[in-house]
Amino acid sequence: MKLKLTAVFLLFSFIRFSFAQDPLIVNTYNRDVTSLNGQWHFIVDPYENGFYNYRYEPFEKQENPGNGAFFNNAKAKSKTDLIEYNFDKSDTIAVPSDWNTQKEKLFYYEGTVWYKKSFDYLVSKSSNRVFVYFEASNYETDVYFNGKKLGKHTGGFTPFNFEVTNLLKEKNNFLVVKVDNKRKKEGVPTLNTDWWNYGGLTRGVKVIETPNTFINDYMIQLDPKNNESIKGEISLNGKNNANQNVTIAIPELNINYNTVTDNSGLATFEISHTDILYWSTINPKLYNVTIETNQDKTIDQIGFRTIATKGSDILLNGESIFLKGISIHEESPIRGGRGHSKEDAHQLLLWAKELGCNYVRLSHYPHNEHMLRLADQMGILVWEENPVYWTIQWENKDTYENAKQQLSEVIDRDKNRASVIIWSMANETPTSEARNEFLSNLTKFTREKDPTRLISAALEQSDYNGNKFVRTISDEFANKVDILSFNQYIGWYDGLVEKCATISWKIDLDKPVVISEFGAGAKYGLHGDKHTRWTEEYQEYLYIETLKMLSSIEQLRGISPWILVDFRSPRRVLPEIQDNWNRKGLISEKGEKKMAFFILKSFYEAKQ
Ligand code: GCU
Repeated sequence: MKLKLTAVFLLFSFIRFSFAQDPLIVNTYNRDVTSLNGQWHFIVDPYENGFYNYRYEPFEKQENPGNGAFFNNAKAKSKTDLIEYNFDKSDTIAVPSDWNTQKEKLFYYEGTVWYKKSFDYLVSKSSNRVFVYFEASNYETDVYFNGKKLGKHTGGFTPFNFEVTNLLKEKNNFLVVKVDNKRKKEGVPTLNTDWWNYGGLTRGVKVIETPNTFINDYMIQLDPKNNESIKGEISLNGKNNANQNVTIAIPELNINYNTVTDNSGLATFEISHTDILYWSTINPKLYNVTIETNQDKTIDQIGFRTIATKGSDILLNGESIFLKGISIHEESPIRGGRGHSKEDAHQLLLWAKELGCNYVRLSHYPHNEHMLRLADQMGILVWEENPVYWTIQWENKDTYENAKQQLSEVIDRDKNRASVIIWSMANETPTSEARNEFLSNLTKFTREKDPTRLISAALEQSDYNGNKFVRTISDEFANKVDILSFNQYIGWYDGLVEKCATISWKIDLDKPVVISEFGAGAKYGLHGDKHTRWTEEYQEYLYIETLKMLSSIEQLRGISPWILVDFRSPRRVLPEIQDNWNRKGLISEKGEKKMAFFILKSFYEAKQ
């Protein structure tokens, strides 16, 4: 019996280990890569017939899965062969992109779609290693290469990569990817959200070739306690990663620093410098930073700044700053659907700049890397959020591991971005002991992984001692955050606009307050008196009254109204007004600016 149990344990850990992800490769944005973007063949498989046999047993768990397993990309070789699928004769779809806005039949589709891409690949040096890298895929993704399972990834908004070095051929490689966007109670997010569940390979896919031992991961930022010290750690991946020379060069600062990795391939360093031009919203200075070993080299553009709180103040490079923000969903303002391109990101950030913003809240999940790279260049501060949204399964250990994994991935991808100042743990989650523990553990994990940034979450406000005209934050988790943020919808979900003038705030915590959401729905072009819902006048009136109301909060240090652009949501079905769009945007999905846009713009112009 004991022997049997050990055998089962060993088998289980082999499966878990063998399908675990490889460490995320950092700064692929600047690496030479081979893009696999373009048209991919696809098969819609609602019954997951390509994954399970008729006994609903997974093919991938079988010794000889046979021709039913789509990951084998099988073809009939003789007239008697029975194969009931053929990728190369199947329709194609664009990657990166969601499937919902590409194929009308898939607009509401939630389930499994198989993707297949064939490609030849000649390694430039036989000792090199090769990885496939996914910028994001929503939601559950099983990846197979030349018929072999590489691994599985859960979470729709963060990158992952797998090594294919030993499986690679010069000709006719085939990458088969099963993407399933079914919503799950135990998922992160869970069943219920207020955004469209766009499915698919929503961001780019690329092949990365590296030297045998390469620069896998690094973090180089200012020491939060000493702005004349650049602190960093670099980890090498490969057999020869121990005792390796590593050079960090920042030519503009005359820095050419040498260090050596320890036995685990990790090098840490601190470099003093008294003349750093700090990254700021006024002057978003980025330095070219080169990391070099005897085998590998990577260059990144990094800004050096400190971000901290002092009492109820937010200090950027030691100076008080007010976060003039707006919330944004990752939808393409150009094509509609899930945003992924540099143009998508640029348009959204240009509109934010036009509003007078120095800050954006990327909600409710990590957006694509273009957003952060452009925010670095444009001098826009960023709140990034993990999709722990509304009521997820707080007691479910796998749900916690899933949330932690997604958080870990976004931190790894963006920890060298000066623009990112806040990691948000969650949005509008109901207080309970299990929830508090869940969020506190995520916060602890984040502070250990990245001690240079601030922690927050979009909390909910409530009556002060039962007095509904006095509002407060009575949430235990508020004690764990650096920035006290909450969503409030007085005048939309909570009474009418006139209520704003009757409300006062009693917030006892000596922390900066940033209102993560407020807003009202308005259909562009619909006009009427300011008391008529869905008119631009109502939304404008709400903005005017809300900005007045919030300005009475002593600790107010920022706002990110809901939301920059109207966005798709299956929860919004009012005909002729919503038609599957949440209409709280200041800009319509066609790029038309509503009256409230100009109220916020002039508020920011007046705000120092
Ligand atoms: C919530 C939520 C958003 C949602 C918004 C709304 O506060 O955080 O995701 O879209 O309100 O109701 O419009």
